[in-house]
Amino acid sequence: MLKQIQSAAAYIRAHSQNFQPETGIILGTGLGALANEVEVEYQINYADIPHFPLSTVESHAGRLLLGRMEGRKVAVLQGRFHYYEGYTMQQVAMPVRVLKLLGISQLLVSNAAGGLNPDFNLADLMLIDDHINLQPTNPLIGPNLDELGPRFPDMFAPYDAGLLARAEAAAQALGHAGTTRRGVYASVPGPMLETPAEYRYLRTIGADAVGMSTVPEVIAARQLGLPVLAVSVITDLCAPGHLKPVVLADIFAAAAQAEPRLTALVKAVVAGL
Ligand code: HPA
Repeated sequence: MLKQIQSAAAYIRAHSQNFQPETGIILGTGLGALANEVEVEYQINYADIPHFPLSTVESHAGRLLLGRMEGRKVAVLQGRFHYYEGYTMQQVAMPVRVLKLLGISQLLVSNAAGGLNPDFNLADLMLIDDHINLQPTNPLIGPNLDELGPRFPDMFAPYDAGLLARAEAAAQALGHAGTTRRGVYASVPGPMLETPAEYRYLRTIGADAVGMSTVPEVIAARQLGLPVLAVSVITDLCAPGHLKPVVLADIFAAAAQAEPRLTALVKAVVAGL
């Protein structure tokens, strides 16, 4: 696996004149437009990167963008990999490990999530301050790649307090405090959405939002020692009384509604790095 990660990184370096990103950004479902904010210097299709998995989900573009946002060097993963697509967790986490080899020193992640907290509204942003991993496996299972990090990474503070504080301050300054929340993200394998009883269960165990991604990437990032900021866009309301059949188009509509706020937030955070 390490060799594959190294050869993917070597390919990207060779096709970007050794571009060294400072910040990695992963764009979630329906949130790809953030990429329009990047002054793209190099664009590499996942299909061309050796050993890189391919996005199978229509809403994910499958491109790595290297360039500048607010003057900072960023690497944007336009399209991520989910366990439900049939990838191993090592594949799901691979892009994070490759970006680390390219030089990033922090990771920003976005996703679409179902809102469990009854105070949340559609298209709110939730800054993730902790998570509950309900995925059946994770990228650290198997022989440890000591070059990447420790066998038993600490998870005391998976989401960086400094980045969270910056994001909260940015939301305040943008006048978005009312639609910017903080909470616990539960990661489930999917791809089906949850039953009413499962949503109640997830709320009972302490989750504020639920989705099918992010946590495997965060686990890999934490093993690598990367500080992480992760933001959920609340695309459907799952608290009792709000629950209704989920229509994918509604999820995209909510993501689109939140996108300008997410974009402004990420830009403000990146600008301050
Ligand atoms: N459940 C799981 N994943 C999701 C949801 C949900 O309700 N909404 C968006 N991603």
